[in-house]
Amino acid sequence: MGNSQFFSNCTADSIREAAAALKAGHLVAFPTETVYGLGADARNPEAVKRIYEVKGRPSDHPLIVHISSINQLEKWAKEIPEYAIDLARAFWPGPMTLILKRTEIAQDFITGGQETVGLRVPNDPIALALIEEFETISESAIAAPSANKFGQVSPTSSFDVQEELGDYLSNFDIILDGGDSNIGIESTIIDCTGVHPIILRSGYITKEAIGIELGDINIQVAKPAGRKFSGSFEKHYAPKCKIFVGKYRIEGAGFLAMSEFETPIGMFRVNSPGTIRDFASLLYSSFRITDRLGIDILVVQPPTGEGLAVAIRDRLNKASKGR
Ligand code: TXA
Ligand code: MG
Repeated sequence: MGNSQFFSNCTADSIREAAAALKAGHLVAFPTETVYGLGADARNPEAVKRIYEVKGRPSDHPLIVHISSINQLEKWAKEIPEYAIDLARAFWPGPMTLILKRTEIAQDFITGGQETVGLRVPNDPIALALIEEFETISESAIAAPSANKFGQVSPTSSFDVQEELGDYLSNFDIILDGGDSNIGIESTIIDCTGVHPIILRSGYITKEAIGIELGDINIQVAKPAGRKFSGSFEKHYAPKCKIFVGKYRIEGAGFLAMSEFETPIGMFRVNSPGTIRDFASLLYSSFRITDRLGIDILVVQPPTGEGLAVAIRDRLNKASKGR
């Protein structure tokens, strides 16, 4: 599958080589704590164009710029509200993306022509080492969407990336292996351009956790209306199999539920997460397992309650509308 170079057990040398590849305009897929990203030099229009080609993604769909620390914030964003600084201090490095007013360094080919830019400091040692090294040699940062075809399931392992994009990468591109993604669903996206923060995409950083950090600031949750962020596409996060959410009993179908649920007779148990956290980290790999086994239907018992369960239900809802 594919021609790209694959680096496991990443060393300082492989990180340096990957940063050099980025500088030369090539793509580097890398692990993060949420999902794997497909990175390019955020200031190189040709390199960024290849991300869109490889993913098959519409070019007005903006990319998250991955930076190494809060110290890089003012390079890419301006007029940053106090509450956004509080969020960055509390949750970075971590599974949170802030949408802020852009500086001139964040050009249209990154922001989809919008006056805002998405920024994130991921919490993964390989990702951070790569971003730091790249910032040092380039004065830039790494633009990266999830390393999957547009509309498909985000990859949570380097094998997933290889399976999904291997045929579309060149032999100058690199896949860095860092094991399975710890969190397993994409970052919480928070619009910080207004007086109040607005959650655009739910994730591991929950509304409750944000509330604790910000005290009495009102936090809103966006209804997916615009088409400029992932969550707003109905066909997102969709595997090949059909996802049924709820108490369906379908002979021969896959089954995913918390461990306290018994497997209905005649169904194939794909995973049995013991906690909500495990549920999130096993969600996409459960989709992929079902596809690899050639099973057409996956029935999922959604986790109940607030917190991270909200993000899981959001992804399930979208995946079930997929096909
Ligand atoms: O966890 C994550 O966020 C992963 C890892 C690789 O960091 N990245 C990720 O990227 O999920 P992507 O491109 O698959 O989804 C990010 C979403 C995009 O769909 C985009 O629409 C939204 O973030 N986004 C980026 N910049 C934006 C902006 N300026 N305004 C509104 N939404 C934005
Ligand atoms: Mg994505």
